[in-house]
Amino acid sequence: MTDTSTPHHVAIVMDGNGRWASKRFLPRIAGHKQGVDSLKRCARACEARGIKVLTVFAFSSENWQRPQEEVSGLMDLFALALGREVPQLKADGVQLRFIGERQRLSNRVLRGIAQAEAATAANQQLVLNVCFNYGGRWDIVQAAARVAAQGLAMTEQHLNQRMALAHVPDPDLVIRTGGEQRISNFLLWQSAYSEFFFSDKLWPDFDETELDLAIQTYALRDRRFGRVSDLVDGASTPDESN
Ligand code: IPE
Ligand code: IPE
Ligand code: MG
Repeated sequence: MTDTSTPHHVAIVMDGNGRWASKRFLPRIAGHKQGVDSLKRCARACEARGIKVLTVFAFSSENWQRPQEEVSGLMDLFALALGREVPQLKADGVQLRFIGERQRLSNRVLRGIAQAEAATAANQQLVLNVCFNYGGRWDIVQAAARVAAQGLAMTEQHLNQRMALAHVPDPDLVIRTGGEQRISNFLLWQSAYSEFFFSDKLWPDFDETELDLAIQTYALRDRRFGRVSDLVDGASTPDESN
C-alpha cells in the first residue's frame, strides 16, 4: 500500500538567498553559497523521510537578467559545487539529473553536469533534479517542438513523454521559500495538480523542521484531482439499485 501522507516527489523554488545575505550586510553571492549547504541538508532530510524525488529550481531562464557579476558568480558556484559535492552525493545514493536548456551554458558547466550525471546514474535512493537555466515555458515549447519534428499528433501523452521531467511522476508537493506566492515559471505543466506550500523562511534558513511542517500540511490536504472527495460518503460507490 502506498503511504499517501509522504509525498513521493517534492519540488522546491529555493528563493531568498539574496535577502538572507543582505540582512547580514553580505554580498548576494554569500547567500547563494549558504543556499548550497541548505540544499545538501534538504536532500539528506528528504532521503531520510522516504521522499524518492526532489526537484529544485536553481537558476531560471529569467535569472540571466540579473547583474553580470551575480550571474557569473552563480555559474562559478554551480561549477564548483558540482566538483565538490558529487562524491558525497554518490555515496548517499543520490541520482543527479540536470534539467534545462543547455545552449547558453559554458563548457566548464556542461562538463561538470555530464560528469555528475554519469557518476550517479546507477543510484536509486533519491533522484535529485536540479533545474538550471530552466523555465516552464521553455519546457513546454521544447517538448512541442519535438512532437512536431517527429510528425506526431499534439496530444497530452506525446507532450508528457517529451517534457524535461518525463523520467519521474509529477510533483505531489511544491514548496516555495522566501515568502513570495508565485510560480515564477517553474514546473508549469507538471504542477497542474500539485499541492503548494509557501514558506516565509529564506532558503538558507529552510531546515528539517520547516520541511516537516510542509509535509504535515500536505498530509492534511484532500487531493481531489477534479473528482468528488473520497471523504464524502458514497462518492465513489454510486448506488446502482435504483
Ligand atoms: C534564489 O534566491 C536563488 C536564485 C534565483 C538563483 P534569490 O537570489 O532570488 O534571493 P532573493 O529573492 O533576491 O532574496
Ligand atoms: C525563482 O526565483 C527562481 C529560482 C529560485 C531559481 P526568482 O527570485 O528568480 O523569482 P522572482 O523574480 O521573485 O519571481
Ligand atoms: Mg528571488
